Amino acid sequence: MSIRVHIGGRICLPEEAKISVFDRGFLYGDSVYETIGTAYGRLFALQDHLVRLERSAERIGLRVPPRAEIEKAVADTVAAAGNPESRVRIILTRGAGKLDLDPAAVDDTQMVVIVFPLGPPSPAMYEKGVSVAIVSVQRNSPNAIDPAVKSGNYLNNVLALGEARRRSGAYEAILCAADGSVAEGSTSNIFIVARGEVRTPGLDVGILDGITRSKVLDLCRANGIPLRETRISREELRGAEEVFITSATRGALPVTKVDDSPVGDGKPGPVTRKVMALYDVLARAGVP
Ligand code: PDD
Repeated sequence: MSIRVHIGGRICLPEEAKISVFDRGFLYGDSVYETIGTAYGRLFALQDHLVRLERSAERIGLRVPPRAEIEKAVADTVAAAGNPESRVRIILTRGAGKLDLDPAAVDDTQMVVIVFPLGPPSPAMYEKGVSVAIVSVQRNSPNAIDPAVKSGNYLNNVLALGEARRRSGAYEAILCAADGSVAEGSTSNIFIVARGEVRTPGLDVGILDGITRSKVLDLCRANGIPLRETRISREELRGAEEVFITSATRGALPVTKVDDSPVGDGKPGPVTRKVMALYDVLARAGVP
């Protein structure tokens, strides 16, 4: 199990990986990133993640290296780390410059790829489910740092998770939008099951267009599972029959406690289990 970092065009050990204190990713969170997981030893949905990385970069006017260059860096670093399953983080920063906020002041994109062992969730977390807490920290307005842009500026989410952990030791924080409806987790999208129907907030609520979320939506559609993208109130989340969260390194993970109260009978429900099974079939088949 090892960590390897691709930085400045070469692969090195974590303790050798250094970046300038003048880098705008460090100074301002002026960067974009992606987290990708492997499943059954292969990168899952790499192309979807690269498309989103390019889209995020375009939205903030950050120049992206050619896709083939990123793909090679990722493949080489995953191979160098040699883990059975990996978690891959691709970071693009605008580069280092003078202490000048103007993004036009610098155009020196730095690419960093970090490969870790995949790590949790553990099998027990999938079997028993995890807890979430609805926090007071609001999801960023799409008119501020648009949640659709996966930027390195995660302070809002950092504070949200801090609140959830402090308040109830919850595994994940759930942030709401300005209208009070449920938006998403600090690093995950959220789904509920109500009256047998899978429901998740639409992109218009102001959330990240999760790659796992969109795979789950496709799986529901293809398998006749009733589905609706709709606004979800806090009360609906607290009263849901089932709840699960999704992200690249977790797939679909059951939630069995919301704000310290059990969801349904406190065990992962049948619809969640079905979605997890379908996702596993997809992961086994592989998505390029
Ligand atoms: N986070 N919403 C937010 C705010 C996220 O940060 C993430 C992913 C998701 C899920 O998106 P996807 O299915 O594409 O992973 C939703 C990753 C795991 C991270 O921050 O490392």
